[in-house]
Amino acid sequence: MQLFFLFLMAILGLSVYKRIPQKIVKQRFKLKSSRLPTNCALRIMHLSDFHVHNRRTLENTRRAINAALSEKPDIIFLTGDYVTGQIVFRQEYVKILSRLAATAPTYAVGGNHDGGPWSNLDNSLLVLLHKILFFSMPLVYRKFYDMENLNPEPVFNLLREANIVVLENESVLVDIKECKLRVTGLGDYFIRRFRPRHAMAGIQDSYPHIVLAHEPNVRKFIPDFQWDLLLAGHLHGGQILLPFVGYSHIHKMFGKKYIHGLYKWRDRHIHVSAGVGATGDIRIGVPPEVTLIVWGNPDN
Ligand SMILES: [Fe+2]
Repeated sequence: MQLFFLFLMAILGLSVYKRIPQKIVKQRFKLKSSRLPTNCALRIMHLSDFHVHNRRTLENTRRAINAALSEKPDIIFLTGDYVTGQIVFRQEYVKILSRLAATAPTYAVGGNHDGGPWSNLDNSLLVLLHKILFFSMPLVYRKFYDMENLNPEPVFNLLREANIVVLENESVLVDIKECKLRVTGLGDYFIRRFRPRHAMAGIQDSYPHIVLAHEPNVRKFIPDFQWDLLLAGHLHGGQILLPFVGYSHIHKMFGKKYIHGLYKWRDRHIHVSAGVGATGDIRIGVPPEVTLIVWGNPDN
């Protein structure tokens, strides 16, 4: 009886918690690189993991975009998981996203939810259950699910309608202010669309190079290519960060060292965003965030 009461309270607490709008935190970093021209200083905005699937998540996304634009970015990067399951509130979502590209050039890559095995589901807890099965028993999961049938195009079209440039295993040159940059977007690793060689093998120039990927661990597959800054998301900052315990057990179990924040890796940098939304909408101790990186030459 006591157990049933506790269970009931937990469900009630969770449903109340999931309705409270969350405060959006603004993270700011300064990054110096002698590979940038002396007169180059860029305000880079990094957003990730909107996970829109209901009214509350659409509202959180709108507030995150307001916070991002108030930082007056020169260029904006999005690193995947725009939806949790099915695309919902399509027209309204396009309108909200359009504000990004209307302010600054905006580039995006897809995540494992944007066409992943769970993209037909309309319930975020069901999506969470699928993900637990997918990551704990990948071989069994793949036996029952046709992994060749994954298609991120519907989500990419939503982004394109908002004038956002989608880069999937594609590299482009970007001229912005006094800086010429190379920007490469990689397909998502978990949904088997990761083709780094296709994206980067033909690059001949040595412009400062930003790589976008959903999953930060892909760094280990691309050390032989020249790049300076990798922007990623996916891990939602660990999603649950308890006092004295640290990151959630599941991330420790998977050995994800690069969970949240700005890291130096070899002679490069990696920024992992905690994102705005989360699978199952549960974030404890890791608030939604937008990140401004001011990237400039040390002499600037
Ligand atoms: Fe995500």
